[in-house]
Amino acid sequence: MGRSVLIVGGGGREHALAWKIARSPLVSKVYAAPGNPGIAAHAECVPVAADDLPKLRDFAVSKKIDLTVVGPEAPLAAGLADLLAKEGLLVCGPGGEGARMEGSKVFMKEILSKYGVPTASFRVFDDYDDAEQYVLTHRLPVVIKADGLAAGKGVAVAQTFEEALSFLSDVMDRRVFGAAGDRVVIEECLSGEEASYIVFTDGHKVVPLPSSQDHKRIGDGDQGPNTGGMGAYSPAPVVTPEVEDRVLKEVFTPLLAGLRAEGILFRGILYAGLMIDGGAPRVLEFNVRFGDPEAQPLFLRLKSDIVPLLFQCAQGKITDAVMDIDPRPAVCVVMSSGGYPGGYAKGCPIEGIGEAEKEPGVVVFHAGTARKEGRLVTGGGRVLGVTSIGDTLPDAIARAYRAAGKIHWEGAYFRTDIGRKALARGGTR
Ligand code: AMP
Ligand code: GLY
Repeated sequence: MGRSVLIVGGGGREHALAWKIARSPLVSKVYAAPGNPGIAAHAECVPVAADDLPKLRDFAVSKKIDLTVVGPEAPLAAGLADLLAKEGLLVCGPGGEGARMEGSKVFMKEILSKYGVPTASFRVFDDYDDAEQYVLTHRLPVVIKADGLAAGKGVAVAQTFEEALSFLSDVMDRRVFGAAGDRVVIEECLSGEEASYIVFTDGHKVVPLPSSQDHKRIGDGDQGPNTGGMGAYSPAPVVTPEVEDRVLKEVFTPLLAGLRAEGILFRGILYAGLMIDGGAPRVLEFNVRFGDPEAQPLFLRLKSDIVPLLFQCAQGKITDAVMDIDPRPAVCVVMSSGGYPGGYAKGCPIEGIGEAEKEPGVVVFHAGTARKEGRLVTGGGRVLGVTSIGDTLPDAIARAYRAAGKIHWEGAYFRTDIGRKALARGGTR
């Protein structure tokens, strides 16, 4: 009998999940809460917000959902997986304790240091004056992180003391992130190249996805403010097979053993944000979910059925799954509303997605879209993820940009250099 799957969330990552899950012959029904107009092509969207835990539970119970897959971190940090597990339902995603790997930078750093996982050296402060004293004696640049979830805005890599103290006072004094700023981590600034490494895990074994790389800044050449992610590609050439080996041995093996020793069985997706320098990986952060927009190119490359793996993570018994990965590179170019990550207009009619998808190897994933009087309009900052696969990286990049060029709305913006760093590293295939 076909299984039912509930996807929690409504962004680009969740569209990619819905697209991939709906192709599985094991699945007969996909729901998404709340979903989006793109997801609606693969799933029944139900009007329940991703952070409305009681309603999500009631829905999953009433539909006897076979597997819930949680896209964003906030419901996991709030304990959605625990709530569903109490009802005897399967969830791919950690409980509230495990989600602290993303929800608390202090918790994460303390686990890493306790179990010998390489990361920047750090100190934790809960008092503004102590933190200020420490910053003033620290070498520049200095990295300051609010402890809790801050929608990707809780980190400053400060080049001057002025900048450092102004961020510190925003976090601890003016409390712009609320309770997320009760404590801060102040850490050494690492150099090297960043990459994302995402694995499925049942708490013991890991099954890795290929490496990928995000583009966090709004502007070409990594200029301007941070965003949720303006594009991604996979593989990341900086993650050579030797680096990958080290990541598994030096990061994931001790981390999972450490989490188990702490009584945490982590069942779900673990995403390591890494800084790689001279072939040595060090952890910048962990996320407890797929990356957005990394999931979009990754799922285009994933040829195996994702559903058995999601079930096995949820059940805590990954068998010797072999992932069939398309060797060709994939790229995602995010198209955003003009003004993002600052203020932006909503409700602008979107044209050209159908034309864009005629480009071979291209899939357009919806992130912030909406329907207004039957028309597809913009409804968020990041609007679409134009994703492509090609024989070579230049090929994949050219396809994504040809497709993006066919899509229009008033104020549409995208970076023009997605994947350039990989090209510079000789990642031509
Ligand atoms: P995080 O949310 O911890 O990944 O931090 C956001 C971004 O800040 C990262 O993607 C890095 O670009 C940068 N960053 C964080 N920690 C460090 C560090 N210790 N050294 C250098 N850059 C960092
Ligand atoms: N792309 C970065 C993230 O998902 O957090």
